[in-house]
Amino acid sequence: MIANKTLDHNQARCYEQRQEGEHVRTQINNITIGYSDQGTGPPIVFLHAFPLNRTMWTTQEHLLSSQFRIITIDLRGHGESDAPLWRYTLEQSADDVCALLDHLRIQRALFVGLSMGGYILFFLYRKYAARVKGLILADTKAQADTEEGKNGRFQLAQIAYRKGASAIADIMISRLLSPATIQTNPDLVQQVRAMIEGNQISGITGDLMAMAERPDSVPLLRQITCPTQIIVGELDQATPPSDAKLMAEQISHARLTIIPNAAHLANLEQPEAFNQIVSAFSLNLEK
Ligand code: MLT
Repeated sequence: MIANKTLDHNQARCYEQRQEGEHVRTQINNITIGYSDQGTGPPIVFLHAFPLNRTMWTTQEHLLSSQFRIITIDLRGHGESDAPLWRYTLEQSADDVCALLDHLRIQRALFVGLSMGGYILFFLYRKYAARVKGLILADTKAQADTEEGKNGRFQLAQIAYRKGASAIADIMISRLLSPATIQTNPDLVQQVRAMIEGNQISGITGDLMAMAERPDSVPLLRQITCPTQIIVGELDQATPPSDAKLMAEQISHARLTIIPNAAHLANLEQPEAFNQIVSAFSLNLEK
């Protein structure tokens, strides 16, 4: 057997992956974090939406890992990461992401965050701007929750606690996917349902509290100076195109692309269009 201490870091990483396939887990900030690290080249880090997991990025991973090093992370509370029963904050998730990058010896990266993933990127930029080479903010928004929104999160947490994750899937699927997708793409609906049902209640309720507590990031937008691409599904009702336009107006030189026939999970509903935007932006960043 090869002892890890005899390998340099990249060899150790490959060895770890050969051993574990795509299911790499490591200790970060006193919990276990699941992640995937595929391909070589400039790193791109993908942060998933609530209440999903890193497998929502599988098609992006397949397409882009021939040219880039693609890191997808199960945020704490999701997928193969631990879901401790305690207070969650989006700042803590940003800290987890940077600690994982330290572990992988990645200093700077392009970050892609969809919805809650985007909320976390605002924290990451506040605290670790020097590590951000570029941002892709997809189907997300800068505003904090309204009082009504916070109340909705409280109600959803009670449903999760009393009825479990499948009741959350029943409610969330029509918020995440377009009516056309729900009618015509049962495989995708099932994939999203399985991701939601795979979460522990501590993770779902922890995220809901964390999102309800997040501050307004609109004042931050004018301080973002890195290249930024904004993406939104034209049918997104959770974070509609008007929220994307606000970000595009406030972030200097940000580019906005609206994807037709997609709702909130634009990367899953229109993967080709989404991948094309991410690929073009990533290649441009390397010029
Ligand atoms: C998400 O997709 O991450 C959620 O819809 C975000 C939210 O509930 O605000």
